[in-house]
Amino acid sequence: MKIGVLISGRGSNLAALIEACAEPGFRGQIALVISNRPKAEGLQVAAAAGIPTLVVDHQDFASRETFDAELDRALRAAGVELICNAGFMRILSDGFVEKWRDRQLNIHPSLLPAFKGLHVHQRALDAGVRITGCTVHFVRPEMDEGPIVAQAAVPVLSGDTPETLAARVLEAEHKLYPLALKLVVEGRARVVGEQVALLEADGTEAAPLFVPAI
Ligand code: GRF
Repeated sequence: MKIGVLISGRGSNLAALIEACAEPGFRGQIALVISNRPKAEGLQVAAAAGIPTLVVDHQDFASRETFDAELDRALRAAGVELICNAGFMRILSDGFVEKWRDRQLNIHPSLLPAFKGLHVHQRALDAGVRITGCTVHFVRPEMDEGPIVAQAAVPVLSGDTPETLAARVLEAEHKLYPLALKLVVEGRARVVGEQVALLEADGTEAAPLFVPAI
């Protein structure tokens, strides 16, 4: 399955996905990495792995729709069948999201539906939660909503700052996203009525993928 990855920055999740795709027998291949920011460090991560990159700078477009149309065109031209958002910081138009319905994944650094949006780690600390984590989900027009493929739990420790907590959650993200992507490329994560049904390799029903306390 040809995968397109959308990034805006550092690209550490992209690096984890590249590593996963290099595993023998992995049924996905990253065909294109697109950044909306010309200076995103992730572009170098992709280039170093020999993956084609493209900058589609949102500032060059008059509207969200024309920006999204260019993303769509480039992804289709590269033969992309599945999109992975990996630290992509633009809101996509409803039209784009619907075109890629059930073929676009996102990773969010909280246990959704808690703490959608930005500043998640500060908000988790303010709320006093003892466990946070990360979520891989199919993308829907509403931000940080959509059928959940997999989640990982991360403990909040006393003395945590948003930075220390973010670093611990990021480690979990790097484990979770490859696991979730594997399920999707193998056709073992199916959207059924806005929830994800997971299947074992032999087609029987699998338990929900929850990675405890990383
Ligand atoms: C990750 O924490 C991701 O969950 C969030 O933005 C961060 C991106 O990090 N949406 P990176 O660019 O993958 O290193």
